[in-house]
Amino acid sequence: RGVGVVVVAAGSGTRLGAGIPKAFVNVGGRRIVDWAVDGARAVPGVVHVVVVVPPAHVEMPIPPRRDVDVEPDPELTEALYAGAAADRVPVTVVAGGAERSDSVRAGLAALGTDIDIVLVHDAARCFTPAAVYERVIAAVVAGDRAVVPGLAVVDTMKVVGPDGLVVYTPDRSRVRAIQTPQGFARVALEQAHASGVHASDDAMLAEECGIPVRVVDGDPLAFKVTTPADLDQAHKLLASAPT
Ligand code: CTP
Ligand code: MG
Repeated sequence: RGVGVVVVAAGSGTRLGAGIPKAFVNVGGRRIVDWAVDGARAVPGVVHVVVVVPPAHVEMPIPPRRDVDVEPDPELTEALYAGAAADRVPVTVVAGGAERSDSVRAGLAALGTDIDIVLVHDAARCFTPAAVYERVIAAVVAGDRAVVPGLAVVDTMKVVGPDGLVVYTPDRSRVRAIQTPQGFARVALEQAHASGVHASDDAMLAEECGIPVRVVDGDPLAFKVTTPADLDQAHKLLASAPT
């Protein structure tokens, strides 16, 4: 059985405000999307990565994996390393849509037929450690149809109504901040997306189908580059990383 990863990178990055799509912002000499794709294709068991980008960027070149000793070829665009050396995972680039869920559906449609476990990952979580992918994959392999990484929250959470008044306060010890990659049995993810509705994550669509969603441990390094402060954090991480 094969694991495929859909890396969604088609957002505009409004909150970051960089003037270009967020996934194409440079961090440490490479684009955010390059870090994310590299992370995904280094994970054991992953056999196909689909990158979903803004339609205007669909011809973008994908650099080879950093740990693979080959020269970058700027002409390469699609199905880049299919049929190349066995240690390379093919990367397919497709155009995304207006909402994140549209982009996920575009990616899902481009996955090879040999894939039966799908991970959906935000390109903006470009430094997600392999261990997070591995925990998610392990839980799906063990039989869960939907698995998400989550972290305990430090602040008290409140659900607030449109009038600005608190509706209720969930027990903080039971709340998790959810990250990606989110892993699914492929049939479950396809079922979750069949309705064509939009949600900020894929697990929510699975929940709405009555599919149980398991939470495994996330990692602070899987934070999402969302605001300029997050981008600063990403720069600092690389500056302090051992080379
Ligand atoms: N995404 C996508 N297609 C969209 C919207 C979002 O592929 N139509 C991707 C983003 O590229 C990102 C991930 O989904 O990797 C998480 O979304 P978010 O952090 O909200 O990114 P943006 O939508 O780009 O940022 P913003 O909401 O600030 O505009
Ligand atoms: Mg967004």
